[in-house]
Amino acid sequence: MAHGFRIVENAKLDARNTFGVAARAPMLVEVADAAALPELFGYGMLREGPVLVLGGGSNVLFAGDPQGVVLALGAQAIAIVEDDGDTAIVRADAGVEWHAFVLWTLGHGLAGLENLSLIPGTVGAAPIQNIGAYGIEVRESIHAVHAFDRRDRSVVRLTPAECAFAYRDSVFKHDPDRYVVTAVDFRLSRTPHLRLDYAGVGDELAAMGIESPRPSQVAEAVCRIRRRKLPDPAVIGNAGSFFKNPIVPAAVADALHAAHPKLPMFRTGDEATRKLSAAWLIDQCGWKGHRDGDAGVADSHALVLVNHGRATGADLLALARRIAASVRERFDVAIEPEPRIVGAVW
Ligand code: FAD
Ligand code: EPU
Repeated sequence: MAHGFRIVENAKLDARNTFGVAARAPMLVEVADAAALPELFGYGMLREGPVLVLGGGSNVLFAGDPQGVVLALGAQAIAIVEDDGDTAIVRADAGVEWHAFVLWTLGHGLAGLENLSLIPGTVGAAPIQNIGAYGIEVRESIHAVHAFDRRDRSVVRLTPAECAFAYRDSVFKHDPDRYVVTAVDFRLSRTPHLRLDYAGVGDELAAMGIESPRPSQVAEAVCRIRRRKLPDPAVIGNAGSFFKNPIVPAAVADALHAAHPKLPMFRTGDEATRKLSAAWLIDQCGWKGHRDGDAGVADSHALVLVNHGRATGADLLALARRIAASVRERFDVAIEPEPRIVGAVW
């Protein structure tokens, strides 16, 4: 990598997406040093054309080949950049594997990310959909996001407010061609404020015989629950939840609750809306374990689409559309995909 980057033409992406579907990029640019980005984005296809930044590929569906350049960031540094003895700001490069980063923070006595253990992917992708699990969203720990802004061709530092984080959402999702996230700063604490209220975490700790957990033990409990519930992409291709939990007006939620008292629903922080369980809606439509050829729905979780072997991205998208249509028909609720769909429009 002479100039901090390497170019591969006609690059196979099959092993770069956790669905394991076949895809090719006309050009893959692997960037080892984010300092190369301003110069790189001055040339050829990178200057104006579409660019897909690809991390671990655990939240993309290649329904077709990406047009233009695929960019992969490799930088792997993690450093404490500020520390007052209790709170520390930790900077991690975009290319760092997310779970390895969570373990690094716990190993350094820093709490805050333990509930987000075992989420696949990279640090650079964490702000894109504001990853969340077990009662936490990553926005609660993000101090700043460092990025290259393609529109202004400048290196920028975004505050959490500028990132406009919401449930599985951020500014990056609305303007996917604009920012390349190069590093993220997290504010973490040596005084743990554990969140054990999310269904299952407290029970898992109790089953582990732990009464006063340390953050690393909470992480272990979360890992155990996740290993039970979610299929491992190394065993069967998937991208975690394929649909977001739909957010609906409270009046709609009340009417649904009256008709379906078992439908799980959650508060959103806004009294005017409720979040519904997409998994439950899909499960009720009978999809769990369903298979259309090699495109299927996981046996263990109705929200997870799986590739039994040779499904194409288009096969998985067709199944997803049928699932969404059946939920709309039965419950009059629209469910939206969570992963980025490349090569097709939802
Ligand atoms: P990719 O899939 O490579 O990319 C996802 C999106 O982010 C794309 O739009 C891409 O262009 C963009 N992107 C990636 N890196 C950058 C960057 N550096 N700059 C700009 N844009 C970028 N998610 C959750 O929130 N909670 C969960 O509990 C969860 N569980 C999962 C379980 C499984 C088994 C799987 C397979 C996935 C799960 N996910 C979960 C989804 C996924 O792990 C996350 O969305 C993760 O952050 C994606 O990281 P990635 O590096 O693989 O991103
Ligand atoms: N349920 C069913 N059928 C199923 C699975 C679940 O009816 O097959 C019902 C159950 O009642 C269960 C409820 O759905 O209590 C919620 O299930 P779960 O706790 O698994 O959470 P989820 O809403 O399905 C969300 C995230 C996950 C995250 C978990 C844990 C979304 C779209 N998904 O799933 O994130 O790990 O909570 O916090 O918000 C991802 O984004 O890829 C992902 C895996």
